[in-house]
Amino acid sequence: MIEVKHVCKAFKQFRAVWDLSFSIAQGDIFGFVGPNGAGKTTTMRMMATLLDPDYGDLVIDGISVLDEPETIRRIIGYMPDYIGVYEGVEIEEYLEFFAAAYRIAPARRKGLVDEIMEITELTDVRHKDVATLSKGMRQRLCLAKTLVHDPKVLILDEPAAGLDPRARIELRLLLKELQKLGKTIIISSHILTELSDMCNSVGIIERGLLLKAGRIDEILAEQRGAAGQKLKLRVMGSPDPAVAVLKSLPDIGGVEIERDTITFTFLQPEASNAGLMRELLNRGVPLVSLQQESKNLEDIFLNVTKGVIA
Ligand SMILES: Nc1ncnc2c1ncn2[C@@H]1O[C@H](COP(=O)(O)OP(=O)(O)OP(=O)(O)O)[C@@H](O)[C@H]1O
Ligand SMILES: [Mg+2]
Repeated sequence: MIEVKHVCKAFKQFRAVWDLSFSIAQGDIFGFVGPNGAGKTTTMRMMATLLDPDYGDLVIDGISVLDEPETIRRIIGYMPDYIGVYEGVEIEEYLEFFAAAYRIAPARRKGLVDEIMEITELTDVRHKDVATLSKGMRQRLCLAKTLVHDPKVLILDEPAAGLDPRARIELRLLLKELQKLGKTIIISSHILTELSDMCNSVGIIERGLLLKAGRIDEILAEQRGAAGQKLKLRVMGSPDPAVAVLKSLPDIGGVEIERDTITFTFLQPEASNAGLMRELLNRGVPLVSLQQESKNLEDIFLNVTKGVIA
């Protein structure tokens, strides 16, 4: 759905984004992660046709941002990291204004605005002045605004910034709903845990350079393949006999006891775990459970940024 091709962007002599290439599949929720100043906003502004790349191209739904910016603007919804709102305007009026700006037929406007307020849970506060909204409500209103023209692609620059935990959960649920409607969503953040439960693919950027991009499950499997799986074993009674058995088996290393759990690395793919369990049982280990230590975005991040941060 989105292809970023060798994109470079400099501000005077400063390279904000350098030779950036990655792609995002239709229906993905793509987490764009990186520290402050990494180039996330710059890249998203280029996707949104607000900034031209110096080199390279960005293609959305088969259309180049350089060739047909007008067409791109109709298929994307962009939520900037900084939002200006008007004073003395009610939520409902604000959304109706944008519906009109997007040339939605007058007869359809009211129904559409009602629908969007329902999705973003703004119906109850529809008559509130937008200037008096709390941060969370304001974020919801901005998201509502990006939905007015029913874009296929949502480009959201730090939509969760400043939200309380409850509002973050609500945002996550809302994005999952939008994903079910077939939308492709790009969401930036420098907080990994925020993206972990939300995204199925990720791009990690630092100082304008892409460090890694792809599906989270595939990157995890790849990293696991190289470093072995980290497993957790629990047994009945003393762990010592089980540790002795483990140490006698091939492809096993780093055996450690942590309270009633034994952790170790197994240099075999996941498919071999059943065989390992059978072997442990055959050798009389009173096994309660054998689990893979859950890995997430933070592990990916630590792995790919290893040695990069000075
Ligand atoms: N208009 C501009 N003129 C000069 N430098 C700019 C401009 N816009 C961005 N930059 C620089 O480009 C770099 C990347 O900025 P960008 O806003 O894309 O980072 P970011 O990843 O969005 O960071 P943050 O997490 O703080 O939002 C920064 O060093 C920034 O100072
Ligand atoms: Mg930014």
